[in-house]
Amino acid sequence: MTETIKIRRPDDMHLHLRNVPEAAAFARASALSFARAVVMPNTLPPVTTPGRVERYREEISAAAPGFTPLMTFKLVPGMGAKEIEALSRAGALAGKYYPANATTNAEDGVPSPESVAKALGEMERLGLVLSIHGELPTAFCLDREAAFLPVLEGIAEAHPDLKIVFEHVSSREGLAAVLALPRNVAATVTVHHLLFTLDDIAGGALSPHFFCKPILKRPEDRDALQRAVLSRNPKLFFGSDSAPHPIKRKEGPKAPGGIFSAPAALPLLAEFFVGAGKVDAFEDFVSRFGAEFYGLEPNEGQITLVREPWRVPDEIAGAAPLLAGSTLSWSLA
Ligand code: NCD
Ligand code: ZN
Repeated sequence: MTETIKIRRPDDMHLHLRNVPEAAAFARASALSFARAVVMPNTLPPVTTPGRVERYREEISAAAPGFTPLMTFKLVPGMGAKEIEALSRAGALAGKYYPANATTNAEDGVPSPESVAKALGEMERLGLVLSIHGELPTAFCLDREAAFLPVLEGIAEAHPDLKIVFEHVSSREGLAAVLALPRNVAATVTVHHLLFTLDDIAGGALSPHFFCKPILKRPEDRDALQRAVLSRNPKLFFGSDSAPHPIKRKEGPKAPGGIFSAPAALPLLAEFFVGAGKVDAFEDFVSRFGAEFYGLEPNEGQITLVREPWRVPDEIAGAAPLLAGSTLSWSLA
């Protein structure tokens, strides 16, 4: 039986850290597991200017030395080539496309791909990654990802050299679309969409801590994601979409979407990959394919996981991590 796993230090290709002061604690929590993370720009105020890219990077780096934030900006209508160029010069690697009203802090998102066509053209020219939250917010909640796919396909067709990451793919339809598109279109997969379903939210007592956008789906969707990830496809890499919200709000009458999954991600993934007998696929998924897609060197150094019980903390900086208080069978050495 595998008791120890050593892998190259991993990357989290989709992370929400919020604003200071909480961001400091969330960054330190991620730094225990990950060398780098693609940090999402849906803060308040959003990361839309070169100055904010630089300031946010400095805040995160100061809070968690040794942890490298990979910066993004939020695409908003009216951004032109000049703005994109300046954001790229400030060090942003990706621009995030939130359909207007699709998720947390997306009220000022993109109403239609046409409204950001100039920005997308410049991102394509500069080699920036387009990171997409792929949901049509007016569709029924379980169908939102599938309903967005024509938009994804339209963007990929209009911008054949644009690197696109379809974030947190959650459905069979979304997965099939990404796999069918050319190599410059990839997807992040979260640990929660890989292991859980709608039953974990609403199949028994209501569990708001499993509520996120896109919503967890059917067992068939989870199983398709598992098969695809185990097949070691370089188009599929890990992005936690770890998205902490205060416990009070998550347990209130209008719970926001978001699962604080980063602290438990590697132990849960270790259990999944070892259980499937595919430890090599684990390293590709968390430490290699994401960096390759972004054109980054892989991290130096290794991380060790051991088969030893670990109790997930009840709370970190006012937010409850995924599976808070329960005991997992793998832990970080
Ligand atoms: C994220 C958040 O809270 O910022 N929420 C979520 O449910 N995943 C935003 C996002 O990625 O949709
Ligand atoms: Zn997200």
